Amino acid sequence: MLKIERLVSRFDPATGAISGASSVERHLSDLRGCFADTAAYDAALAAGNPLLYSVAAIEPAGGEGDLHYAVGILRPGRIGREYFMTKGHLHAWRLAAEFYFGLSGEGVMLLEDEATGESRMVPLRPQHAVYVPGRTAHRTMNTGGVPLTYIGVYPAKAGHDYGVMAARNFRCVVVERHGRPTLLERQAL
Ligand code: PA5
Ligand code: MN
Repeated sequence: MLKIERLVSRFDPATGAISGASSVERHLSDLRGCFADTAAYDAALAAGNPLLYSVAAIEPAGGEGDLHYAVGILRPGRIGREYFMTKGHLHAWRLAAEFYFGLSGEGVMLLEDEATGESRMVPLRPQHAVYVPGRTAHRTMNTGGVPLTYIGVYPAKAGHDYGVMAARNFRCVVVERHGRPTLLERQAL
């Protein structure tokens, strides 16, 4: 077991980079359908296609009890009143939970129970750990003015299922209201 190559990996909390790991980049065009304000989305896309976030993952082993982690860096910005966000997903293995740890910057996570639709908005920032239970869709938003970096630790066999949330989106949206992130029902917009 101790022959695993990646017993130790180094990440940079400021840039979200992990040495020796490649990043997946998501631009605005990759988030079609995520923002409620489609006019604002189209206008922003017409003006350019900014990088919203990148994620680098360390996958030391892929067995039954193994763990992976990823470092994300989500840039600050808004589309209309919605903050820059991640696509959001369920885990392909629905029982897989995940721990998020805020490293720098200021954000929130939107959590949605797959079965009941119950939604919570919780803070993600330094010195905060967010527990994402199994069967819970999760999306991250940068609510501050500087990049938000964070770590997610999840079972190796969790897998990412983007299909369900891409098809119906989250039930709630997080918008800036009076300078603060506010959780609203999508239908109430
Ligand atoms: O595994 C996770 O939950 C994170 O590492 C996310 O993948 C990361 O925040 C990017 O979000 P998404 O996978 O929804 O694009
Ligand atoms: Mn996840």
